[in-house]
Amino acid sequence: MQSTRDNPAETKVDSFKISMQEASKVYEIHGHKVTAVRGVSLTVTNRTCTAIVGKSGSGKSTLLHLLSSLEKPSTGKVSFNGKNLTEMSDSEIAKIRGQRVGIVFQMNNLLPEFSALENVQMPGLIAGLSKKEVSDRAGFLLDKVGLGHRVNHRPSEMSGGEQQRVAVARAMVMRPSILFADEPTGNLDERTSLEVQNLFFSIVEAFKIGLVMVTHDSDLAARLPSQIRMEDGRIVNSDGMV
Ligand SMILES: Nc1ncnc2c1ncn2[C@@H]1O[C@H](COP(=O)(O)OP(=O)(O)O)[C@@H](O)[C@H]1O
Ligand SMILES: [Mg+2]
Repeated sequence: MQSTRDNPAETKVDSFKISMQEASKVYEIHGHKVTAVRGVSLTVTNRTCTAIVGKSGSGKSTLLHLLSSLEKPSTGKVSFNGKNLTEMSDSEIAKIRGQRVGIVFQMNNLLPEFSALENVQMPGLIAGLSKKEVSDRAGFLLDKVGLGHRVNHRPSEMSGGEQQRVAVARAMVMRPSILFADEPTGNLDERTSLEVQNLFFSIVEAFKIGLVMVTHDSDLAARLPSQIRMEDGRIVNSDGMV
């Protein structure tokens, strides 16, 4: 078998499929039940490139958390390559979360006391990859997101757009099959937002992975080949989904 070590750009080429069947998520706060996602059925794969749009509170983030294994459904099923999340062991779930999906949030959650390079390396070190391997991958990815000259900067020493670039590099370090992003340009000015959007598209293209992006920005949504519209926890429209 050919080693992937020589080429840090190497990604997983095997297919990856996340299926939701009639999945709902109910939160209970102070005795009140809030249904954030209601009976959603949806499949996304490493070939999917879609936006999730809808008003604030319509369940977009919760849907993303269910798809990316961050949360379990209250009822219904979410499966990863045919395996039901609720029947997986903690270590199987950790593997999905750590190695098959990459996630970028609006607030980038970078660790403030670490450099860009260390932030990007972190998921690899946690997963037990060698220092050499994570160092190679992180350096390569920071170059790829245009921050080769900022590797030793801490988040507070970088602009909002640069911080999101680091977050994208960090999300890619374990070579995920699908990149999930929750309003990743929501805190950025228009020009920086466009730059970060372009970065997402070039990364997804270069690594041939899926993209599921929650956004309020209708111009951004229109740049993706398909859109899923949510209202009150339900998918009310899905244009272009295959
Ligand atoms: N952790 C939580 N605990 C309680 N309620 C929540 C939680 N997360 C989301 N909700 C509620 O679920 C609904 C959908 O939220 P969310 O998925 O964040 O929507 P969106 O991302 O579209 O703004 C909202 O009414 C929200 O208040
Ligand atoms: Mg949200």
